Amino acid sequence: MTSQLLTGDVAVVAGGSSGIGRGVVEVFAENGAAVEFFGIDPRENDALARGLVERGFDVRASTVDAADPRAVEAFFAEVAERRGRLSALVNSVGIQRYGTAETTSVETWDEVLNVNLRSIFLSAKYGVPLLRLNGGGAIVNVSSGQAVASQKNVVAYTASKGAIVAMTRAMAVDYAGEGIRVNSVCPGSVDTPMLRASAASMDPDDPDRIIAEWGRGHPIGRVGQPREVANACLFLVSPLSSFVTGADLRVDGGALAGISLAAPDEASDDV
Ligand SMILES: NC(=O)c1ccc[n+]([C@@H]2O[C@H](COP(=O)([O-])OP(=O)(O)OC[C@H]3O[C@@H](n4cnc5c(N)ncnc54)[C@H](O)[C@@H]3O)[C@@H](O)[C@H]2O)c1
Repeated sequence: MTSQLLTGDVAVVAGGSSGIGRGVVEVFAENGAAVEFFGIDPRENDALARGLVERGFDVRASTVDAADPRAVEAFFAEVAERRGRLSALVNSVGIQRYGTAETTSVETWDEVLNVNLRSIFLSAKYGVPLLRLNGGGAIVNVSSGQAVASQKNVVAYTASKGAIVAMTRAMAVDYAGEGIRVNSVCPGSVDTPMLRASAASMDPDDPDRIIAEWGRGHPIGRVGQPREVANACLFLVSPLSSFVTGADLRVDGGALAGISLAAPDEASDDV
């Protein structure tokens, strides 16, 4: 379904080569935006860009380590040279590592915080000047339901995702006066390579069984698809959300709407 909501826009998607970010690249291109995206794997980047260019879209891929300040600065300098401005920036870079405060090594803590959180700071640091050249625009940071409710054994990931929501709020306040809106999305489980890797680590023979089980943990009864999150990002960078900034939008099939404590099935005045 295309609406051409982004005709004439220039978008950057950090972490656009796979999963949710890939969905964002596709949906934004289909809606008329020129899209510059990057990921960490050159082959993945090239394959996605090639397919979209063959479909006639104005899409360009780069390989950038999102946690490396010089690499991110150089990427945005190239975008400035090629496009002259930016109207939308979506940050979907992320990695998942498991562990408690005791079992997470200091190296893993730094890796997760650098890739998941510092990357968003860097994208903003070097991307906001391009949004300003556009006379305003919108940023969407991909956080997670884990920002507000945690599984066990994900201390570093959860810390990074909670900080993304807080940073989004701070940036929204900083840039509202310049017409730059900053929001986050908090997805539930979404069927991406990241989710499949987690499922495969729990049941290498049947990851689909784990994914179906996770799906049943969402009131909608299934996990999400990347384009369902991408459509929320489309709303948040489009004029349809012109009065929305500093928000964290749950895109989670209702996962955080309920609590898993049983209550009586039938209405009763006796309880
Ligand atoms: N899949 C889910 O269930 C889920 C749920 C909630 C939040 N999220 C979040 O959504 C975002 C995307 O996750 P996904 O599931 O699509 O994962 P994914 O593994 O499919 O994609 C991750 C993307 O990040 C890029 N990336 C990773 N490390 C990088 C680095 N150092 N430099 C540059 N790019 C790098 C990859 O190239 C890829 O494009 C992440 O922030 C993740 O935490 C995912």
